[in-house]
Amino acid sequence: MPNETRRGWFHRKDDDDRSVAASVDDTQSTAPEEADSGADSTQDGAVGAILSADAAAPTGGSTLESPSEPPADDLPTVPEPEEATFHVKQSDIATTATPSPSSASNESETPLAREVADQTRRRQALASAPLPLPDHTRIFTISNQKGGVGKTTTTVNLAAALALSGAKVLVIDLDPQGNASTALGVEHRSDTPSVYDVIIGDVPLGDVIQASPEAGDLSCVPATIHLAGAEIELVSLVAREQRLRRALDLHLKQMAEPYDYVFIDCPPSLGLLTINAFVAANEVLIPIQCEYYALEGLSQLLKNIELIEKHLNPELNVSTILLTMYDSRTNLANQVAQDVRDHFPQQVLGTIIPRSVRVSEAPSYGQSVIGYDPGSSGSLSYLEAAAEIARRGAPIIEGARR
Ligand SMILES: Nc1ncnc2c1ncn2[C@@H]1O[C@H](COP(=O)(O)OP(=O)(O)OP(=O)(O)O)[C@@H](O)[C@H]1O
Ligand SMILES: [Mg+2]
Repeated sequence: MPNETRRGWFHRKDDDDRSVAASVDDTQSTAPEEADSGADSTQDGAVGAILSADAAAPTGGSTLESPSEPPADDLPTVPEPEEATFHVKQSDIATTATPSPSSASNESETPLAREVADQTRRRQALASAPLPLPDHTRIFTISNQKGGVGKTTTTVNLAAALALSGAKVLVIDLDPQGNASTALGVEHRSDTPSVYDVIIGDVPLGDVIQASPEAGDLSCVPATIHLAGAEIELVSLVAREQRLRRALDLHLKQMAEPYDYVFIDCPPSLGLLTINAFVAANEVLIPIQCEYYALEGLSQLLKNIELIEKHLNPELNVSTILLTMYDSRTNLANQVAQDVRDHFPQQVLGTIIPRSVRVSEAPSYGQSVIGYDPGSSGSLSYLEAAAEIARRGAPIIEGARR
């Protein structure tokens, strides 16, 4: 596949000023600036201890909400981004560009103006450079056995962002909850042909793929409730760990123009479905929620990946860690983010996904946040994360086959 960009971010006919895409400065935190309430604190080194310990792996588990802190919405709320951008261009930014020494505390210095100006700058950075396409199919497993850390949200929004940039993208929903199928607006009723039929029934992958109504070339292999029984049914099947990989490999070989990216959304467990995803992929992306307990079990996850790499898939590589649901008002979120960066300096993306009401609302409309509210900070952050992933490229693994 030619290593070129098929379509620039801004070249879509239906794009507006908000439909921007991605480039990001590695050093830049993309979370909205908010006052640090200092409400949360954590003991020095406590998070690091979890990362280095042989943590007893919790399976599943619920999302740990930030105590006593309301969720940080997209700040500031800008109902009509075009108007807001116009307003800032005409007044605030213009004023900032020619500051008067005697008016240091003019209106452009308000947090709202700073935030809007920052978002405008980020959009301009995204628009300024199209994204490269990979020269082979990059297959990501999005995994973390902890529940509710943003696996599905990350899968769907990165896929939507890359598709918007001109990449050909496939999402495989490997979670019986079917959340990725819902968010991508594809049918997944119990009688819908799905990934269950592929893994258990040897149905070709191409027979169950559906196009997503999201912008760009984005397709989805849906998951239905039948998948809930697949963990048990797989146990007695031949090559039970390889079933998804074989189906995917066959499908990729038959395609005249293969996918640029495949994202596999995993359930919150380390069972056979997740193992199938690890065996099918060449990269692992781990979303980590910026909360203390979100790190528990990470060492167990990394150990399992190591075992898969050793015995089943030597190409597997934890290439990417994405910090999600970041609330900059808490010291704890900052501490967790810093500790994860200290432990995984190569893998952690510079972009952090902030907590955002728009991000959590989007699936109920069967959309990614990029389709639902392109001007929101959540959309902007996922576009930036996608740009980082595209620009970093795939890690070089000896003997890589795809
Ligand atoms: N950046 C965010 N801001 C606000 N809410 C978010 C954000 N990311 C995810 N959420 C919400 O948090 C919840 C859990 O997210 P998600 O379903 O992506 O996690 P998950 O890891 O896939 O969960 P599971 O383990 O159940 O599959 C969802 O309600 C989602 O809308
Ligand atoms: Mg999920």
